[in-house]
Amino acid sequence: MRGLILSGGFGTRLRPLTYTGAKQLIPVANKPIIFYGIEALVDAGIKEIGIVIGDTAEEVKNTVGNGERWNITITYIPQEAPLGLAHAIKISKNFLKDEPFIMYLGDNLLKQGVYDLVKLFKNKKPNALILLTEVANPQEFGVAVVDEKGIVKKLIEKPKEPPSNFALVGVYLFDEVIFQAVEHLKPSWRNELEITDAIQWLLDNGFNVESQIVKGWWKDTGKPDDIIDANLLVLEDIKSSNKGTLIDSTIHGRVEIAEGAIIEKSIIRGPAIIGMNAKVSHAYIGPFSSIGDNVVIENSEIECSVIMEGAKINNLEKRIDRSIVGKNVVINQTDHSPRTHKFILGDQSYVQIIK
Ligand code: G1P
Repeated sequence: MRGLILSGGFGTRLRPLTYTGAKQLIPVANKPIIFYGIEALVDAGIKEIGIVIGDTAEEVKNTVGNGERWNITITYIPQEAPLGLAHAIKISKNFLKDEPFIMYLGDNLLKQGVYDLVKLFKNKKPNALILLTEVANPQEFGVAVVDEKGIVKKLIEKPKEPPSNFALVGVYLFDEVIFQAVEHLKPSWRNELEITDAIQWLLDNGFNVESQIVKGWWKDTGKPDDIIDANLLVLEDIKSSNKGTLIDSTIHGRVEIAEGAIIEKSIIRGPAIIGMNAKVSHAYIGPFSSIGDNVVIENSEIECSVIMEGAKINNLEKRIDRSIVGKNVVINQTDHSPRTHKFILGDQSYVQIIK
């Protein structure tokens, strides 16, 4: 069975972070989100993965590589524009060779992985196997109507008036009939060939669509708060390890400290992760924080935040909480008069100052 990971799209809801990088490469617990998807497929025994790429192709290729590090083969499939998930299947037909496959959206995180799903699909051989979960905001997803036996009756993409709370999770298993389905689709209101419409076509034409309910958590990392929550959920499973140097510092709970990191006169309260060559001095790093490689944090407090590589945070009077700080960002506080704010912020940056 082959794997198809989608890593195109514009990531508009994650601006400004996505002005300078692909949303699938945003780090969660210091690892690009897309790596979790790749590793889930590898864990299920998949050895050949196609990655559909768009405008951020070069960056994705540079970060992910040819699959060597996972002992698999990765093939890149360019999509000329984000024309939908079903369009991505259409253009991947040569790679997928009309065989069963699993499609995984590169910005999705799934605690349970896909091992059991792949096994179930291989045993039961339905035409499609979809994954559902109950959400509070179904209008933001593909929504499924299921009967009391869990049989899928109907699917609608981002309905204004959702007929149920069951959202489609971004993991789908298909056999070759999906290639027929995608040929029959018309672009939706958002000008995309929708995967929900393709699955609806399978239902309308008497094919067998099975569903499973998610075990554990699932996160679609579409918005900034989703990244912070995903980081929190992944860090919940982190293990303690220390390859760095501790000087007059205290570590509480589970903290992973990478090579070359220096923690000096600081308190780290896990679960947290500190990247390579990071420097934390006279600081407090609270639970659910990911501190990237080469980050410098001095005289400041951080909690429940994602601080990306190379950022420098100095002398902040107040704690940084539930924040995302991009690569090489500098935040510092000085005692100089006049007491002003000085900002150099990219388009659509977001700053909140709490008195
Ligand atoms: C896509 C699918 C939607 C699904 C969601 C899961 O939405 O179209 O059906 O529920 O992924 O992440 P999009 O991310 O394109 O808005």
